[in-house]
Amino acid sequence: MKILVVGGGAREHTLVCKLAQNPIVDKIYVAPGNAGTSSIAANIDISPNDFDKLVGFANENDVGLVVVGPEAPLANGIVDHFHNAGISAFGPTKLASIIESSKTFSKELMFKYGVPCAASRTFDTLSEAQSYVKTQPLPIVIKADGLAAGKGVIIATTEQEALSALEDIMGQRVFGDAGNSVLIEECMVGKEVSLLVFTDGKTVVPMIPACDYKRIRDNDEGPNTGGMGSYSPPGFFDDKAKQTVMDTIAVPVVEAMNAEGRPYRGVLYVGLMITSDGPKVVEFNARFGDPETQVLLPRLKTDLVEIMMAVDEGRLDEIDIEWSDDPCVGVVLASGGYPGKYGTGYEITGLDSLDDGIEVFHAGTKLDGSKVVTSGGRVLTVVASGATIAIARDKVYANIGRIGFEGANFRADIALREVS
Ligand code: AMP
Ligand code: GLY
Repeated sequence: MKILVVGGGAREHTLVCKLAQNPIVDKIYVAPGNAGTSSIAANIDISPNDFDKLVGFANENDVGLVVVGPEAPLANGIVDHFHNAGISAFGPTKLASIIESSKTFSKELMFKYGVPCAASRTFDTLSEAQSYVKTQPLPIVIKADGLAAGKGVIIATTEQEALSALEDIMGQRVFGDAGNSVLIEECMVGKEVSLLVFTDGKTVVPMIPACDYKRIRDNDEGPNTGGMGSYSPPGFFDDKAKQTVMDTIAVPVVEAMNAEGRPYRGVLYVGLMITSDGPKVVEFNARFGDPETQVLLPRLKTDLVEIMMAVDEGRLDEIDIEWSDDPCVGVVLASGGYPGKYGTGYEITGLDSLDDGIEVFHAGTKLDGSKVVTSGGRVLTVVASGATIAIARDKVYANIGRIGFEGANFRADIALREVS
């Protein structure tokens, strides 16, 4: 079987590593991939958003399964394009991907079907949003409705901050059309956890839970990023809590999507806040999370190709999905200046000096002759597993400093709360 993976981050590198473990897979293509994927797969220079070219490539190269990483192509209907061409593709259709691409849609869905989430209102005009914000308690959460690469959420602690977030999103249009409308949302308090589920629209199977760290600096300071690290499992989220999320959120939402004529197949990412009133939804994503995937897939014992084919063919009930008991910790190495401006093209050294068992998933990297150089904000995720979180964590931090590039930085506190 030949597989095409769409995307070029550490999530996609992790997917490629996992998919490659299946003996029936003889070739994996990645569009566009990175230096890491080029060592086990064939990178192809096609944009994830150029569906015609991707479908043409898949047809010419006899691709039997397409796996889509990022949200933008899903929201634009990449899976529909492949299905229309008769090619299996893992991920939700355009109709179903709206659960991530419109926060207003997902909020209305949750209100309609009684799924626990923060109180919220949607506004289409700046002046109405500004008037409303002035009547609300602080802190308050301001969200652009559409896709904003993880940056469209502002937790405002002062009225001025809330007003300027609204001005940026709706007035200055810093996220373009994603800011056509905004949500103004109650600020929930609690610990965050991500529970991803596989679903074929009938059967819903949870993965193991994971936590990610969105802020750039230790102690959750500084601006939000695409994610600076992750670990699995969080000690504060037990099987009972997981069952509550399945019963009150994941299963009802999959059923709700069916009822709305938007049957959902693929991975549904449920971002949760564990509040004093129980788990509530922070957001849904229509895909694998990044950097959660880097600590989830190394723990997956069941063959991923089989799971994906079963999801696409609506027979997930036939598959028994198993996970390793060993916790996993991943720390992101980022470029200096990220998530703001940063330089690229710096040589990455030390990748061959790591202990056995350390996995390095590439994101913003590319080959420059025989050198691996930086090409993005998040550059690598360094991952280890072990008998305990403390062991996995120690392994990552004993190794990460051996990798170097100009301006490299990482958070020192990933999974620390689980061991101290
Ligand atoms: P999102 O892009 O929706 O995941 O939001 C980014 C981050 O903002 C989340 O991971 C939370 O930490 C935070 N967040 C979003 N919505 C809320 C909320 N209603 N209350 C508290 N924190 C939130
Ligand atoms: N880790 C959050 C996301 O993938 O959106």
